[in-house]
Amino acid sequence: MEKVRGDQLYEGKAKIVYATANPEHYLVYYKDDATAFNGVKKGIISGKGELNNRISAHFFELLERRGIQTHFVELVSPREMLVRKVTILPIEVVVRNIAAGSLAKRLGLAEGTTLKQPVLEYYYKDDDLGDPLINEYHIRALDLATDADLAILAEQALKINAILSEYLATRRLKLVDFKLEFGRTTQGEVILADEISPDTCRFWDSDTQEKLDKDRFRRDLGGVEEAYQEIWRRLTGGAE
Ligand code: TMP
Repeated sequence: MEKVRGDQLYEGKAKIVYATANPEHYLVYYKDDATAFNGVKKGIISGKGELNNRISAHFFELLERRGIQTHFVELVSPREMLVRKVTILPIEVVVRNIAAGSLAKRLGLAEGTTLKQPVLEYYYKDDDLGDPLINEYHIRALDLATDADLAILAEQALKINAILSEYLATRRLKLVDFKLEFGRTTQGEVILADEISPDTCRFWDSDTQEKLDKDRFRRDLGGVEEAYQEIWRRLTGGAE
């Protein structure tokens, strides 16, 4: 019963969130739509919704087994998952192991430079402003999160980085960087939410450094669908 879609609550660039009959749960539908550069570049990545739904569920289940609380409840259909109802904090948490993308540009580093230690960054989730880079002082000054929330974000993000990096290495993948979002439950806990997929992570082949993520779409590299399929294949060996 609770798996039946209720009212549409929110439509984002890649997902739609629906109410369910259970007030504690939302249903998330993963779309094939892809955007980049704050929505300026638009396209469709055929089959992405299904792959990102499955890939995210796979990572959430792995993290839950390793003691990380996430919003994931269960897969409902190929493109839908049931999640705990949370209010998303207006902060994107990025963790970087290897210089790429905006960090490489901002600091003049060659893409592929291994960082001496993981770098944690915060971005203010505001499309009109283009999600600007902010620090803990901005977060406190703008009252975007409490000190207790910030401590959880940093601790959880670095723990998630360690778990995922180690796991992906066994699949011959480098976790270059990734973006996380956290949400507050109705009980007041701050837990991992949103998605973990090739849309929100940079994955490079450990041996060839081939890009197996959304950078293939952002940079018009071709083989976009194949890259998302390859990530799923590496995670599962093709099995469900
Ligand atoms: P960046 O190098 O463009 O700042 O991206 C860092 C990581 O965050 C990368 O893995 C892609 C991810 N990301 C998102 O998930 N959403 C976004 O809107 C942006 C800009 C990056």
